Amino acid sequence: MEYLDSHRPQIHFSPQEKWMNDPNGMVFYDGEYHLFYQYYPDSTVWGPMHWGHAVSEDMVHWEHLPIALYPDSLGWIFSGSAVYDEKNTSGLGEDGNGPLIAIFTYHNSEMEKAGRQDFQYQGIAYSNDRGRTWKKYAGNPVVPNTESIRDFRDPKVSWDAEREQWLMVFAAQNRMMFWSSPNLIDWTFESEFGQEFGSHGGVWECPDFFPASVEGEGITKWILIASINPGGPNGGSATQYFVGDWDGKTFTLDEDFRKEVTNEQAVWLDYGRDNYAGVTWSNIPETDGRRLFIGWMSNWQYARDVPTEAWRSAMTVARKLELHRLSSGYRIFSTPVKELKQLRTSENMLNGDVVSATMPLKAFIAPASAPITDRSKGTYELELEFTLLDKEKAGSFGVILHNSSGESYRVGYDPSEDEFFSDRTKSGDTSFSDKFADKITIAPRNADAETIRMQLVFDQASAELFADGGATVITDIFFPDQVFNQISLFSETENTVKLSAGKAYALKRIWD
Ligand code: FRU
Repeated sequence: MEYLDSHRPQIHFSPQEKWMNDPNGMVFYDGEYHLFYQYYPDSTVWGPMHWGHAVSEDMVHWEHLPIALYPDSLGWIFSGSAVYDEKNTSGLGEDGNGPLIAIFTYHNSEMEKAGRQDFQYQGIAYSNDRGRTWKKYAGNPVVPNTESIRDFRDPKVSWDAEREQWLMVFAAQNRMMFWSSPNLIDWTFESEFGQEFGSHGGVWECPDFFPASVEGEGITKWILIASINPGGPNGGSATQYFVGDWDGKTFTLDEDFRKEVTNEQAVWLDYGRDNYAGVTWSNIPETDGRRLFIGWMSNWQYARDVPTEAWRSAMTVARKLELHRLSSGYRIFSTPVKELKQLRTSENMLNGDVVSATMPLKAFIAPASAPITDRSKGTYELELEFTLLDKEKAGSFGVILHNSSGESYRVGYDPSEDEFFSDRTKSGDTSFSDKFADKITIAPRNADAETIRMQLVFDQASAELFADGGATVITDIFFPDQVFNQISLFSETENTVKLSAGKAYALKRIWD
């Protein structure tokens, strides 16, 4: 596969061509991780939605498959999920085997044009050949929009093992609705959540809902993920979450968490500008036990305008989510899946130097003769641990990427504010949108350890920061004129911070 065009991600999933947005239908089945996605095959801007499709054995390398779901007389195919109906509760399986079932929103643009409010409703499709071909269920829709709720979409279905029922959560304007079913076809409304909690700076979209055991505590809590657009902490689209309990009918917020999500306050999964509509894979084997997530690495503020030619948008790296209880409250920690490690080449131990103004990481400074046009490069992973030598005086410090066009991207930590930041204001082409680089992205620190840890994954057009073991995450994209082929550490103050440990890797691209 070529994948060497300008700004083409080398270690992230992107469609071969045309427009992509949300990840959809993520299900693990028979050794394959399926990734479907909102796709418009006729243009590089959003339009009548289809489900594009890819599979992977490791969530790192992807094989493109033909489009799985096309629009039909009921509407375009908006976001949704997929499950393995192992017990064939739907009766849509074949030869005694359970089918894969995709649950999605039909968006009927004709009805919308006619001024109706009930133009979104939920439908299903099934596959009996490992997701290669899909048939729409003849009795669609399975959840009609009887109350004419304008935004009524993005069903995430899971098997509620404790109550032996299917559970559907989807977004209804400013809240989430919960429905249950014995067979994925007949659905009963159970309850709704959210009107008076979290942020409502925009419409709620793309929920996820799952149990998570609290690390080290042996108790289980339920997590509700709610994407919202706009209204994100640094502008535009972003994803908030809630922690509570589920009794089979109602989601009740945890008492302490409740305090953090009243009066329009929210807790965010990722503080960056470019992680939206992310959800988790279903049917991950219990022997694995991980909660695995991927998000759309863009933002509705400028997704249609980013300077790529053949295609638009990429996904984040796949991440493992864990629930921790900190002194500040329950927090989801995100870290790149361990499968990503296979891309590491040339491990470089970094020495424990005091960080001065700008300190080039020698192994990552291209010699003058290096081909800076090599689009297969520019992919790195860093694992850094910093110790403050002078807490009072320490200014911001972190990592700078730069290139031979004089462009740069900075990511790091500001001790005086106790915040992480990501600065793409000088990172290359920012002119396509006045929102794109209007400010520096900031994120609160969620840890009080003496050392500040930063795991960083850099691609041609993105940076992902997993700080303090994943307690704070920032995902931001950028569009430099030339590949960032040089990495330096920096500190705004002299003799105030030390790199106490560090490793740096060049990453192999995934498309060979
Ligand atoms: C989120 C979203 C979903 C919708 C889809 C349409 O980005 O707006 O709510 O289903 O995109 O493409």
